[in-house]
Amino acid sequence: MTQDIVELSAPPINSIVGHLVELGEDPLGFLTRCRDYGDIVPLRLGLTPCCLLTNPEYIEEVLKNRETFIKSRGFRVLKTLLGEGLLTAEGESWLSQRRLAQPVFHQRRINEYGETMVEYTNRMLQTWQDGEVHDIHADMMRLTLAIVMKCIFNTDVDAGETKVVANALDVAMHWFESKRRQNFLVWEWFPRPENIRYRDAVAQMDAAIYQLISDRRQSGEKTNDLLSMLMEARDEETQEQMDDKLLRDEVATLMLAGHETTANTLSWTWMLLSQHPEVQEKLLAELNQVLQGNLPTIQDLSRLPYTQQVIKESMRLYPPVSLIGREAVQDTTIGDYEIAQGTTIMISQWVMHRHPQYFPDPEVFQPERWTEEFEKQLPRGVYFPFGDGPRICIGKGFAQMEAALLLATIAQRFQIELVPGFPIIPQPSITLRPEYGIKVKIKQISN
Ligand code: HEM
Repeated sequence: MTQDIVELSAPPINSIVGHLVELGEDPLGFLTRCRDYGDIVPLRLGLTPCCLLTNPEYIEEVLKNRETFIKSRGFRVLKTLLGEGLLTAEGESWLSQRRLAQPVFHQRRINEYGETMVEYTNRMLQTWQDGEVHDIHADMMRLTLAIVMKCIFNTDVDAGETKVVANALDVAMHWFESKRRQNFLVWEWFPRPENIRYRDAVAQMDAAIYQLISDRRQSGEKTNDLLSMLMEARDEETQEQMDDKLLRDEVATLMLAGHETTANTLSWTWMLLSQHPEVQEKLLAELNQVLQGNLPTIQDLSRLPYTQQVIKESMRLYPPVSLIGREAVQDTTIGDYEIAQGTTIMISQWVMHRHPQYFPDPEVFQPERWTEEFEKQLPRGVYFPFGDGPRICIGKGFAQMEAALLLATIAQRFQIELVPGFPIIPQPSITLRPEYGIKVKIKQISN
């Protein structure tokens, strides 16, 4: 026996646009309140039927089934920036790209970037002075961007083309945020100044990336950067390679997906550490004992369990991606519930990672909770900072390694104190970033 979800209990609708106002004003608070209504909470966004899933089994069911549940409409706006890259493509196009890109992200290959990550972090620390006030989020964004540029193009972030690309991404992220605030009700082709600025930035980014691709093809240079690996990748079944347009889409995708998320992870981690000096102390003790004052390498990571627990717990409380959206392409079911074609399905890391049924004291920062036994008994679909199913983050290994290496390099040498009274506001857009940055005072640790 199946049941229509519209019969389920739901938050009251106060306006003709359904729940759009509540969702637009305070998405995290609103979705958290929705959790109390049940396993599937029917919502309406304008005319679009929608639901929030809070049952881990349903979440798993949807994330596993990429053919029935495709990326949602709001997310598809990203295509204007990323084209048909891995993050936005669907169907056969996605499958063949994933096959091409998967070996490029094999842990053995990714490990080669560990040294670059530590070297760039160390370079940044050379410029830090005891007692300075920093926006640590801006620092982390610059650092992870420089790392991803080096790993993709083997160029420095100050090189002309990479500057253009970085600027375009910044303009694009602001544009998406303003779209979200307007609930995507303003069309992107409308000649408003911000739309024109956005289109110009994308055009400049395209020109810069195509130039980098053409330079690489002409020079025939073989490096171990991601661009070279993607250019050489050949589909095992069809023997096809990526053309320039697809390479452009893939590279733009990796830059966007690959730097802001990791920067957010670290920014939120710094905030939590400074709010919990006892955790900061314990972390430092582990780093001192294992690294003995040396820079970390990937071989050290398995000997830094507390460092890994700190990152896991930080991604629980502040998931860098806080909401995943899907759309049902046909009439279907989730569990025993009927889902009509066109329904938007919302799955929120923020809501699940703070679920009191699975996490005792859910609001408390407690890295120690991440024991092996705790993880083993946690149902799938409760903790999923990198998503799940076939469309799970391809950069998961890269990101986990980067977050741990950067944290270990910095926390060994500096402690972070929040500047009192500075507002730290989580802004859930494509990623969960601190709206006004995070102002901190940095303190050099004396040896
Ligand atoms: C802490 C850092 C990161 C987090 C939390 C994160 C999170 C995610 C999530 C949740 C998804 C799935 C979205 C969905 O199902 O709708 C995803 C997909 C993806 N991520 Fe990440 N990501 C991170 C870092 C990275 C890095 C470093 C890269 C690349 C260098 C990357 C590249 C991608 C790509 C290409 C996809 C699309 C995969 C596909 O659909 O086949 N991400 N990421």
